Amino acid sequence: KTRLQIQTLLLSWFDENQRPLPWREKYRPYEIWISEIMLQQTQVKTMLPYFRRWMERFPDVQSIADAREDEVLKHWEGLGYYSRAVNIRRTAEIIVRHHGGTFPKAHSTILGMPGIGPYTAGAISSIAFNEDRPLVDGNVERILARLFNLDTPVEEKNTRKFIWNTAEELIPAGRARQFNQALMDLGATVCLPRRPACEKCPLNGLCESRRMGTADRRPVTNRR
Ligand code: ADE
Repeated sequence: KTRLQIQTLLLSWFDENQRPLPWREKYRPYEIWISEIMLQQTQVKTMLPYFRRWMERFPDVQSIADAREDEVLKHWEGLGYYSRAVNIRRTAEIIVRHHGGTFPKAHSTILGMPGIGPYTAGAISSIAFNEDRPLVDGNVERILARLFNLDTPVEEKNTRKFIWNTAEELIPAGRARQFNQALMDLGATVCLPRRPACEKCPLNGLCESRRMGTADRRPVTNRR
């Protein structure tokens, strides 16, 4: 019963409150991939102009593989963590050589690509291909730690496991694209790290940490 409530509330909230982002216009796997790599260490507001410039110069996977590495790096200048750009180029070469230039759909293939770990693979599978796969980043950790009032550090293996399992169980069948992005946007605009805007949250009636008055102390971390 609660599961269905969470799903319904989040999906309707996303319908009405989702941020208009360029990669949400067509959901091209290529654009979802690049956006997720950029978002690994960079906020949406900061990466947006980079994303637009990138798509003008590199409209598809082939164009990255054809480009010189210094030009690829030049379009990353300012974003930092340059290994991300190097990994994008390596992935582009693999996709051209082994997948005919189109982004592969199989989760196990995506997960093996340079720079693509469990979070990014989950993001591409669910957002680009709408597969029922979970994704857990800092946003999802915070939302679920608050919703279930988790009092064990999120760094702990069992807590991580609980969060990934819960993120998976909560996915409404066939709606992972909307559901996972709803979690992203809720974490970025409402369920903020400090001073969460609980009065604006679609889940406030179900949130255990809000009920207990502990929301601003969740998630618990090992770091002081
Ligand atoms: N942060 C990381 N991935 C995101 C996405 N797909 N949409 C919005 N914010 C994000």
